[in-house]
Amino acid sequence: MKMSVLYFSKSGCTKEMAETIVKGMESINGVEAKVMSISEIDDEFVKESMCVVIGTPTYYTNLAAEVKMWLDTQSGKYALAGKLGGAFATANFVHGGAHNAIQNILTHLTFMGMLIYSGGNACGKPPIHIGPVAVSAQRDEYKPVFEIYGQRMAKKATELFNK
Ligand SMILES: Cc1cc2nc3c(=O)[nH]c(=O)nc-3n(C[C@H](O)[C@H](O)[C@H](O)COP(=O)(O)O)c2cc1C
Repeated sequence: MKMSVLYFSKSGCTKEMAETIVKGMESINGVEAKVMSISEIDDEFVKESMCVVIGTPTYYTNLAAEVKMWLDTQSGKYALAGKLGGAFATANFVHGGAHNAIQNILTHLTFMGMLIYSGGNACGKPPIHIGPVAVSAQRDEYKPVFEIYGQRMAKKATELFNK
């Protein structure tokens, strides 16, 4: 089953965390996951993906304008309705607004008809309630959580769609 992790990244942190999510996804049997910048998308692969996760740096407590622009103008061509969707963010500060950025991406994915998932409290520890956040200066410490998030997303997508 194909899965895509799409990101925008200027200085590399969001890209690294996207790659970490893909690593987690690929640890689940039968999953082929791909990480792509929103400026360089393999259209066919995303169309065929049953799980699509979107990542952004936090800019002014919100998603980056580049991601908002992609959501508004490009995301409609990928037949995302009915597929599993999630979001993550990176930021400089724990309290820098990353959850607001994630929530606003998830709201857009909801609008598109995606099934929104994070695992939430139901998956226990580590808690990833809305979507994972990495503080850029300590990104390595957050990688295990991002890998687990990738596993949780991939497991749920295979449960739902591997029939
Ligand atoms: C224009 C701009 C605005 C930012 N605003 C915030 C912010 O509101 N809160 C925060 O925690 N970090 C903020 N940051 C820091 C970035 O979110 C953080 O460095 C992120 O990891 C960068 O991602 P990237 O390396 O993938 O480009 C801002 C950075 C830039 C360039």
